[in-house]
Amino acid sequence: MVSSRSVDLDELRALLGEWRNGSGSLAERLAAAVEQAIERGELLQTWRLPAERSIAEELGVGRSTVVRSMEVLAARGIVHRVQGAGSFITGKRSSPRTASLPPGLRSKYQMGEYTGPGIIAATVPSSADLPADALTVTASELLDASPDGEPPGSGYHLAGLAGTRRAISAMLTAHGLPTGPNAVIVTTGATQSLSLVFDQALAPGDVVVVESPTFPPTLDLLRRAGVQVVSVRTGDAAVDTEGLAKVALKARAKMAVVTATCNVATGHSVTSEDRRALVRIAEAGVTVVDDCTLADYHPMPQPRPLAAMSDQRSIITVGSFNKIYWGGLRMGWIRSHPTLVPSLVRTKAKTDTGSSVPSQLILAKLLRHHDTIADLRRLQVQRRAAATRDFIGRELPDWIIEGPGHGPAMWIRLPVRDSAEFVAFAYQQGTAVGYGGMYRSDGRASQHIRLTLTSGDDEVARGVADLKAAWSAFPDRRRTRKGNAR
Ligand SMILES: Cc1ncc(COP(=O)(O)O)c(C=O)c1O
Repeated sequence: MVSSRSVDLDELRALLGEWRNGSGSLAERLAAAVEQAIERGELLQTWRLPAERSIAEELGVGRSTVVRSMEVLAARGIVHRVQGAGSFITGKRSSPRTASLPPGLRSKYQMGEYTGPGIIAATVPSSADLPADALTVTASELLDASPDGEPPGSGYHLAGLAGTRRAISAMLTAHGLPTGPNAVIVTTGATQSLSLVFDQALAPGDVVVVESPTFPPTLDLLRRAGVQVVSVRTGDAAVDTEGLAKVALKARAKMAVVTATCNVATGHSVTSEDRRALVRIAEAGVTVVDDCTLADYHPMPQPRPLAAMSDQRSIITVGSFNKIYWGGLRMGWIRSHPTLVPSLVRTKAKTDTGSSVPSQLILAKLLRHHDTIADLRRLQVQRRAAATRDFIGRELPDWIIEGPGHGPAMWIRLPVRDSAEFVAFAYQQGTAVGYGGMYRSDGRASQHIRLTLTSGDDEVARGVADLKAAWSAFPDRRRTRKGNAR
């Protein structure tokens, strides 16, 4: 748990910095500065702020200004005011930004149904491209022996079939992360991998540092775990990883969750210097979860996962085959220090008794073609990214594509204060795209949309053309044009 402590006046003044700069009343500016310090992980849940009268004297403002700013923060659920005892940081925010999406779209997201006319909201590589001979499981394989000669027996293999664990460990080793089969757990996907790691390692009240933007279900899982999420923003679309590492130490974080090789939204990778900063915080005891789900989309040569730089037990790597092979496979993995495997397996056993054997048999066969499939996927998204860039440059010149262009998605900044209304409007017109606000933990507005490139060439082209038609018809396009929300 995060221990309660009193923040002293000097510390608070330093945290608030140039709080008077900005817009709104003095009380609103003060409230915003407190909120930003919470977001940076410099004020933590349960900490107590100094008395309002003392804050007023320290900052040279009237007491009523401080009272009003605390009222603003209390109304947003960010502080809890206790008569006579001061204000405590709760760190909780009002409902996340997805609430601004229309119920139809929200429930589609929640149900994972992205199959609108323009399939550009989800990462959905096609099974049609996979080698057909790898997609079969014979009766004898199920009854007698897996591809490398082991009988699946009862079918209950909590950590995964031995042959499949071997195939995953061989793939990781070939990609520069030496791994034995006893360090691998087969899961139903990276979402389950993250969920197991969080269940096993976190307790309510722990502080967890994440990137912003990050994979939305990571945020959902962390909220469910009752932890305090501190997110580190992007600067020019790249995550400030060194800043993230610093915040993790300062906030005494239990965990940092990063996508060191391909950010879910921007496609950015962490530089080798920043990777060292992440390894250092792992050495200092912070559990670093390196989500490699999209790493295969990174152009070759790919940087090696963080765990290849240090054998720290506190670096856990997770990944998936659902985004590079096919979503319907439902296969992912955790790679951890072998001593952590038994407790992760026990955690998995609470909700299932082992991943599907037929899927694991197919996966072991697909893994023989891993590099060929990954090459194909990279080529496909690069081709669609180039066509989409051309189209946007020509037809939507005030849309800004951010990020290096790696990965299966594009992160696009629209000339509006908040893209939620446009995302909802486009959906009503029949085109689904990701709303940027879902990829950040702070519940604030976002100018961004996320557009995926994994459905077919024609589908992506049609989806982007439909999006342009929706933009032309979007009534608020002009009214909201001048905006600078991040
Ligand atoms: C970064 C990241 N992590 C995890 C996942 C979840 O993957 P899975 O479908 O295997 O649960 C995704 C899916 O897009 C992702 O992009």
